[in-house]
Amino acid sequence: MSLRLRFSLLYTSLLGGVLLLFGGLVYGLVSFLLLNQIDYTLTQEAQSIIAVLKADSANQLDLNSAAQVSPTENILIQFWNTDQQLLLARPAIWQQALDADGLRSGVPVFHSIGTGDNVNLRVLSVPVTTPRGPVGVLQVGINMGLVVAVQRSLAVVLSLLTLGAMIITGLVIWLVTGRALAPISMLTRTTAEIMRADDLSRRIPTLGISNDEVGRLVVAFNNTLERLEMLFTTQSRFMADVSHELRTPLTVIKGNLSLMRRMKEVDEESLASINEEVDRLTRLVGDLLMLAQAESGRLPLQLATVELDGLLLDVVQQLQPLAGDRRLVVSEIDEVQLVGDRDRLRQVLLNLIGNAIQHSPSGSKVMLRLSRDENFSHLEVADTGPGIPADDLPHIFERFYRGERSRKRGPGTGFGLGLSIAYWIVANHGGSIDVQTHEGNGTTFTVNLPLKGPQTTG
Ligand SMILES: Nc1ncnc2c1ncn2[C@@H]1O[C@H](COP(=O)(O)OP(=O)(O)O)[C@@H](O)[C@H]1O
Ligand SMILES: [Mg+2]
Repeated sequence: MSLRLRFSLLYTSLLGGVLLLFGGLVYGLVSFLLLNQIDYTLTQEAQSIIAVLKADSANQLDLNSAAQVSPTENILIQFWNTDQQLLLARPAIWQQALDADGLRSGVPVFHSIGTGDNVNLRVLSVPVTTPRGPVGVLQVGINMGLVVAVQRSLAVVLSLLTLGAMIITGLVIWLVTGRALAPISMLTRTTAEIMRADDLSRRIPTLGISNDEVGRLVVAFNNTLERLEMLFTTQSRFMADVSHELRTPLTVIKGNLSLMRRMKEVDEESLASINEEVDRLTRLVGDLLMLAQAESGRLPLQLATVELDGLLLDVVQQLQPLAGDRRLVVSEIDEVQLVGDRDRLRQVLLNLIGNAIQHSPSGSKVMLRLSRDENFSHLEVADTGPGIPADDLPHIFERFYRGERSRKRGPGTGFGLGLSIAYWIVANHGGSIDVQTHEGNGTTFTVNLPLKGPQTTG
């Protein structure tokens, strides 16, 4: 059963139940009040008749006094003596007892009598006694036709009202829930279409959607689609980038091999070139593997206490030969001990300082500074190179991203993975990397690492 139908039925029957209950109460109350009124009238009538009646010397009804009785309109009267003889009847044609049971009760009683023919009577039977003993029973009756008619109309009106209210409520709820749930149906349909067409660029239209639970669901769903689409495009671009990076060295290797085959000799130059390309491929595959692990947060870290200052001096020594006439200057160095993976952190330093060397003009200085505060170490790598254009800046930590100037392929050039790898290693250590750059005025990368090492969450 649809949610819509379920809601409509539920609320309609709930309303029906409540209205029936109230209707019943109203009906009962009205009936009770009417009957009370009638019984009161009958009591009054009986009292005024008894006041007129007299008993004779034999303690029998005095028929003269009986002749004086003049009942109010619509009221029936009978007087039965103790021998069950009818001594007085108004109207006179009514000869059978108004209430046969009432004659025998011995106390005043009210009874409702159905006589068939749609005549309903309410009868009060009052035993009449004098100090000398019982004289007989006075019965006073009234036709209840009016009361029954009122009750019947009341029942009809109440039932019709209940039914009408239920139908209207049912319709309104059907319409309202239909409107409220329409976006959900649309969501289901669009999802199905997206699955069928494999088109992640589609969105659920949000025009005219209210800011309620359903509206927020639609927005959340659209956001999910957006994220999915982004992941999907990134993924495809990644595959394209990887294929491209793999193909170039393979082409070079194949070229060299076929050259050697044609020449029928092993040529040193070709071998060196092949060797270089294989190294490049090996580096690429290693980098990719590390990135894949780091991005998914599953980079295995060999945590130990690392003396970051010692590591920095080590890396400086290692890179100095490659720096040519650029100078690596350590302008400030605190003693820093932190928990981390020494080899991965070395990789971060190599990548950042390597970039700085690569991007600074010959003869310039690359300034290195290591400091610490209570919880973090801060390592600055500042060059005086051309800086990073504002267009490139948001992307430099992306995989395979290379700035305009770095796109040419040369022996020393990277794959555009160096900063991604640095970023993810630092992230896996619970730290962060900041960049400050001014076009034409150099770039400063700052690596902030927590001294206590990566904190496992939870
Ligand atoms: N110190 C720097 N000065 C200027 N640009 C830089 C610097 N470091 C990185 N970049 C820019 O960021 C890009 C990405 O760097 P990286 O990930 O190390 O890739 P790669 O070094 O392989 O090009 C580089 O291509 C370059 O455009
Ligand atoms: Mg690099």
